Order: sequence, then structure tokens, then C-alpha cells
Amino acid sequence: MQPQSWEALEAACGGCRKCALADTRTHVVFGVGNRRAGVMFIGEGPGQQEDETGVPFVGRAGQLLDDMLKIIGLDRDRVYIANIVKCRPPSNRDPLELEQDACIDWLRGQVALVKPKIIVCLGRIAAARIIKPDFKITREHGLLFPRGGYQLMAAYHPSFLLRDPRRRPEAFDDLKILEAAITRYAPETWA
Ligand code: URA
Repeated sequence: MQPQSWEALEAACGGCRKCALADTRTHVVFGVGNRRAGVMFIGEGPGQQEDETGVPFVGRAGQLLDDMLKIIGLDRDRVYIANIVKCRPPSNRDPLELEQDACIDWLRGQVALVKPKIIVCLGRIAAARIIKPDFKITREHGLLFPRGGYQLMAAYHPSFLLRDPRRRPEAFDDLKILEAAITRYAPETWA
């Protein structure tokens, strides 16, 4: 996708009616954070609080994401956070393939503008879309997949960690892997 301006991209995304999620949304949830970040996090799609506020990861999962970032000295001002789909799927169901297809160019535009060194997919849905369709989150989280000038990796989705806290030690290991990747590929993140 051709890089355009942030203003043009955000305005076009804000008026998007490419799929039926437009009919039920309160807000388009575009993205948040540092638009020149070396690290970009990609979630699945907005939940209820995100739909109400227009900001990604503001609910309980978002609080946990903030806590996770803090463990490696990061916060929302040092990274960029977006989702695969920008409008809330009703009842928080998984976004349908056709909804993801309709929405993915907005994310492509964001990636083209941010130009991150590292992309962290949060959960299976994002990893399947960004890394490979048959991504196995329990086996392949924490691995780096270099591709097209990016380091791609996946970590457990914070909502999953809220449901299954026994996975938190693995999530901590992934944060340490991310920390090392940042030191190597995006050290300006700490500056
Ligand atoms: N879960 C996501 O995947 N994205 C959000 O923005 C909030 C919760």
C-alpha cells in the first residue's frame, strides 16, 4: 500500500463502511501511540469499552497490556497499538474472515506509515493474519519470524492471560524475548 498521510488514512478509516460491522459500531478504533514507534502491537479487534471510547485496549485486557509493557520499561507513548479490525464484532466474537479482509488495508496503511522494526501480534487471530494462517500460538509464541524487513512475533493475548493466568510465566518469557529484540533491532525505543 502506498504511504499516505496519517490524516488522510485516519479520516478515510473513520468513514469506512466496507463491512457490516460499520452498522453496529459506536466508534471506529483506529490506533494509539507513537506514530514513529519501532515496535507495533496488533490485537484482534475492539471490545465494548474500546467501541465506546474509540481507543484500543482500554478495558481489563488493556490494563494488563499496559502492565506487561511496563515490565520491559515501555508505555503507550513508546509503541504503536492497533487491531486487525477497527470496529467491534458483536458480542466480542472473533472477526470473520471477510471482515478482516475488508479491514486489513487500514492496518497495512498504518504499518507503512509507522515503519516499525518489530511487529508483535497479540493472540492467535492476529498471528494467523500477519504471520501465517496456520499459526499455533501455544507452540510458536515468542519466536521471531524475520520477513520483509520486519521482525514478526506473537505473544499471548492479554484477554487469554486473564482467563488462564497459568500462562503468565510464558508471557513473561516472551516479554524478555521482545526486550532483547528491541535492544537489537529498535534500540531507539528506549531513548
Ligand atoms: N482486545 C483486542 O484485541 N483489541 C482491543 O483493542 C481490545 C481488546
